[in-house]
Amino acid sequence: MRINHSRIGGILLKQRLLQIAGPLVLLLAFVFPAQANTPSASAVASAHPIATAAGHEILAAGGNAFDAAVAVSATLAVVEPSGSGIGGGGFWLLHRAEDNFQVMVDGRERAPLAAHRDLYLDKDGEVVPGLSTKGPLAAGIPGEPAALVHIAEKYGRLPLKQSLAPAIRVAREGFAVDERYKKLAGFMLKGMQANAETARIFLHNNDIPAIGHIIKQPDLANTLEALANKGHAGFYNGKVAKKLVKGVRKAGGIWSQQDLGEYQIVERQPIQGEYKGIRITSVSPPSSGGIALVTIFNILAGFELEEMTETEQIHTVIEAMRRAYRDRAEYLGDPDFVEIPSEKLTHPFYAAGLRNTIRLDRATASNSLPGVVLENAGQDTTHFSILDQEGNRVAATLSINYPFGASFVPPGTGVLLNNEMDDFSSKPGVPNGYGLVGAEANAIAPGKRPLSSMTPTFLETEDRLAILGTPGGSRIITMVLLGALEFAADKPPSNWVSRGRFHHQFLPDVIQFEPNVLSEEQQAQLKLLGHEFKQINRQYGNMQAILWQKTTNDVEAASDPRGVGAAIVEKH
Ligand code: GLY
Repeated sequence: MRINHSRIGGILLKQRLLQIAGPLVLLLAFVFPAQANTPSASAVASAHPIATAAGHEILAAGGNAFDAAVAVSATLAVVEPSGSGIGGGGFWLLHRAEDNFQVMVDGRERAPLAAHRDLYLDKDGEVVPGLSTKGPLAAGIPGEPAALVHIAEKYGRLPLKQSLAPAIRVAREGFAVDERYKKLAGFMLKGMQANAETARIFLHNNDIPAIGHIIKQPDLANTLEALANKGHAGFYNGKVAKKLVKGVRKAGGIWSQQDLGEYQIVERQPIQGEYKGIRITSVSPPSSGGIALVTIFNILAGFELEEMTETEQIHTVIEAMRRAYRDRAEYLGDPDFVEIPSEKLTHPFYAAGLRNTIRLDRATASNSLPGVVLENAGQDTTHFSILDQEGNRVAATLSINYPFGASFVPPGTGVLLNNEMDDFSSKPGVPNGYGLVGAEANAIAPGKRPLSSMTPTFLETEDRLAILGTPGGSRIITMVLLGALEFAADKPPSNWVSRGRFHHQFLPDVIQFEPNVLSEEQQAQLKLLGHEFKQINRQYGNMQAILWQKTTNDVEAASDPRGVGAAIVEKH
């Protein structure tokens, strides 16, 4: 037997070193616990169990988080048509583990080229009710199909055809109506009945379908197949595009082939911030989400929330929300059209100035701050979060704006169009009843993207990572904030998604809150400070969240109990 003396010598030396260094290593391990480089499991949390299953199906087939994101987005378009779809758009926040590259894929809708500032005003300059919310005139040029192709081609590992397969299959085979679908269809019934194609697909005998009724969408399956086979051109050129333009124009809309042909996603740098050791990564304009979230956190960073009573905490958080929402309306819009002072708005010094205007013994009346009107922000939308076992992650919030969007489907396409044009200010620069001026930054212009509140977000400390987001119109940002504060307090994702919610958006100057979230006593105390209230008579939001605990390498996921979603963690 040949003995390698030098190796044995090396082993002895190592043993001796370990004897000396052992206690030191133990101490270091205690102070800096070992960090897992890759998660022990993958996780998908989405607003519908079939979409969550589609994500896991693609991960199990060898796809990464980005392929899974394509599958989940497209499947949500089929099984949750009230929230998002390929007739809409959204923001996909991506993190690639191998090089820590982060990007936001902006697949937000664009105003048609024939749109103009006064599109929704009558000859007297008054807003025509319903014009920016119902029918094809309300629809921006969809961005989701372009985003799915882009994500699959640039970041995915599987062919687009494979990632779209689950959605195509479910569109053909159908899905069962659940309680949530039934409720939202009831809410939008009149609008859906007004368009025969929409009613044919999404209603049953022109009425709200019963729970368990199967909705099949063969036209949508064909459109998704065209996308799968031809990529970008499968939707934006050729037969599908022709049918889209024809259907829109015939019903009074203004889309053209040029609008579809010109549509491109934009890759943008996410907004970054920090709150007490937590790195915040969120979306940049044309969503207001990231900037507003970071502004609020920067303001709060100067307070010791944990040392306050619950009422003091609520007051302080409300005052931070009030200021961030004022800035949102004043400054934010499509960055390709307006100069946005992002650096200033997310700078801790700027927040310090805002913080100095907060009094702990009194609410600041919104009308004592220079004011602008908050634009509409739709009530629906959807969110999903994904983590794969390589550590790639996606937070995506997608929308067609109102439930079932514009309630309009161009015949033969199966594509339910968004009413995202309503996210523009219809009447900027004109004082309203309060004497406040609407936001110029978000005025309608051809090819412009409307301002959004969608806030898909990553939060990261040395040892924990969170992926979260929610639908919910203008309340999205404050829901993500409240979820993030739970993360900051080291609570599990089940708390982030289920905690009671309150909200302030500068105007109207009221604290909005879910039933039973503010006790009588808290309301009385807050009233003494000068706050007014509006209890929302139903719960809101549908948060989908994932936590990766790097020290234990545990992965947890949670889906908002207010919805019917599914959060599933799986080792592949
Ligand atoms: N349509 C909802 C949003 O973009 O905020």
